[in-house]
Amino acid sequence: MTTSDSTQRTSSPGSEFPPFSADEIRAGIRGGVWEKVFFFESVDSTNERALALTASELPERASVIIAESQTNGRGRLGRRWVSPPGRNLYFSAVLRPAIVPKDATLLTIIAAVSGAVALRNRTGLEVRIKWPNDLMVKGRKIGGILTELRSDSGKINLAVIGMGVNVNIEAAEFAEELRGIATSVRAETGEIFSRTGIVTEILNELGGWYKRLMREGRQPALTEWIRLSSTVGMEVRVVIGEETISGFAETIDDEGRLILRLRSGVTRRISSGDVMELR
Ligand code: BTN
Repeated sequence: MTTSDSTQRTSSPGSEFPPFSADEIRAGIRGGVWEKVFFFESVDSTNERALALTASELPERASVIIAESQTNGRGRLGRRWVSPPGRNLYFSAVLRPAIVPKDATLLTIIAAVSGAVALRNRTGLEVRIKWPNDLMVKGRKIGGILTELRSDSGKINLAVIGMGVNVNIEAAEFAEELRGIATSVRAETGEIFSRTGIVTEILNELGGWYKRLMREGRQPALTEWIRLSSTVGMEVRVVIGEETISGFAETIDDEGRLILRLRSGVTRRISSGDVMELR
């Protein structure tokens, strides 16, 4: 792992929050997957920054871009990801896997599994995965994942897995429209957590799952995703663009598509949409 690719930052002395700095993150990372850690005080979006990495900045192996805040954080389906400083986690894992673009959903799957497992280990919260990749606690969103690709002639040059996790933001600090649907580690536990501890745990999980995916194929990751899912086995409503359909979420297929059994008995495979879990 290199040690000098970034702006250094530590939470200000006397701050109520535990230190959050590039060096501490580097010191906590294990497993040999993460070659470089880039740390920025503020970027437009860590995903955007990752997609813009030049050939000379790009390491052979994986790297990670972390920011204290984002001015234009991106969410799924063209939404914004509000990213104030000092509270939460915003980072992008940059990978160069030898897989075809259609299998990139597997990267999102291992990211969701890693986020859920790491948050469970660090915080004790019962984090579950809502299809496709929302990290949830008691029906509220605590984290989200956005995977973006740079590909060329059917080959992935760069896979960017962006993750945002609400760590120390208080319930009252959420924008009006997010109250009721979003939560944070602090809102759920009443405690302040080290963002360094959480992000290193997620990266260590993700590094392990990435190696396993490359070595053993997709099945272990899909099985773990299904085990952690809140969606599988539920009656759900799915909004797909202009269309809304309801049915029973049977499972996900090998490409991470949701297999939905409609009331008519017809089965649909869904690649993208917004799920509401009914019962
Ligand atoms: C979602 O809509 O659920 C996905 C949210 C993903 C947010 C993260 S924050 C770090 C990375 N950079 C971005 O601009 N977005 C992702």
